[in-house]
Amino acid sequence: MNRVCEILNIRYPVIQGPMAWITSSELVAAVSNAGGLGVLGTSADSTEIVRGIPESVEEMRKAIRNTKKLTDKPFGINVFPEAGDPYGFSKAMVALAKEEGVNILVVAGNISPDEIRQWKQDGFIVIMREANPTIRGAQLAEAAGADIIVATGCDEGGCMPSLSTGTTAITALLSDAVHIPVLAAGGIVNEKLARAARIVGAEGVFVGTRFILSKECRAADATKKDIMDTHPDDFLVFTQSNGYSKWRTTPHKYGKEGVEANRNGDMNPPSGSFYYGMLKGDPDAGVNTVSNLSGLIKSIDSCAQIVKELGVPFAE
Ligand SMILES: Cc1cc2nc3c(=O)[nH]c(=O)nc-3n(C[C@H](O)[C@H](O)[C@H](O)COP(=O)(O)O)c2cc1C
Repeated sequence: MNRVCEILNIRYPVIQGPMAWITSSELVAAVSNAGGLGVLGTSADSTEIVRGIPESVEEMRKAIRNTKKLTDKPFGINVFPEAGDPYGFSKAMVALAKEEGVNILVVAGNISPDEIRQWKQDGFIVIMREANPTIRGAQLAEAAGADIIVATGCDEGGCMPSLSTGTTAITALLSDAVHIPVLAAGGIVNEKLARAARIVGAEGVFVGTRFILSKECRAADATKKDIMDTHPDDFLVFTQSNGYSKWRTTPHKYGKEGVEANRNGDMNPPSGSFYYGMLKGDPDAGVNTVSNLSGLIKSIDSCAQIVKELGVPFAE
């Protein structure tokens, strides 16, 4: 049996990457019901911007409970290691996961061995996605007890790794360096790319962009249309937050201004609001960020179709 399926108790090793606002209980449950693993991102199901950790925790509690009404299959939640969590947001989310009986953490950020050990002691399954993936980081995470490593290449949507290693390269490198299973993340948008990931060592895939263009994703129709209309040559990359965070964006207001700001030496240009840009569908009010391979997605399909298409190469 595929090791990822065994660890997570799922049918296809297709993990939906958390995507903040545009994840929802409906999307997560649809992926999990299809045999993959859905993952709730921050602000999943929320319809208004809430401020403060207690309020965010309660919003997430509602999202977890909504998801449980829609599926009896496993699903996960997104957390960030403490170094990237100065206000204790993630600690509160982990405590919530424990209270609500969600036992899969999808951790994004730097490797924090002590936290991984603690989460394992507390009974969680830990999927570790180092933001800037390295062999050393993957080995540290494995030694601390992580169950699955995500190898993210700079082909991904969202916040890109600052190392310019592509998905094929980082998947091949990390799967050669650790004994636990590795998922390929970044531009896995169709069966062919899932097959390629498998060939270079992935035991499953970790997917964001393809699920944005699903029937169950709550991103605005205008956002979906904008992504479908983006020509593969139209992506812009700019540097943000001390050079560690890059965004790909369709060439709307903030994208154009961000690139211009970078040219002028400003490495921390604003990116607008993800809430307005992607959830509400006003591309000039925020960045619209997806994989540069989005042009290979030809239709908006159900999560069931997507999970099957991307999962079949690993079932053979
Ligand atoms: C719009 C968007 C928002 C994202 N938000 C988050 C997030 O909140 N937390 C996180 O850990 N990763 C986030 N990611 C990264 C995804 O979980 C996943 O790693 C990535 O989408 C995989 O690459 P792909 O989009 O090419 O499939 C986001 C990605 C996208 C496209």
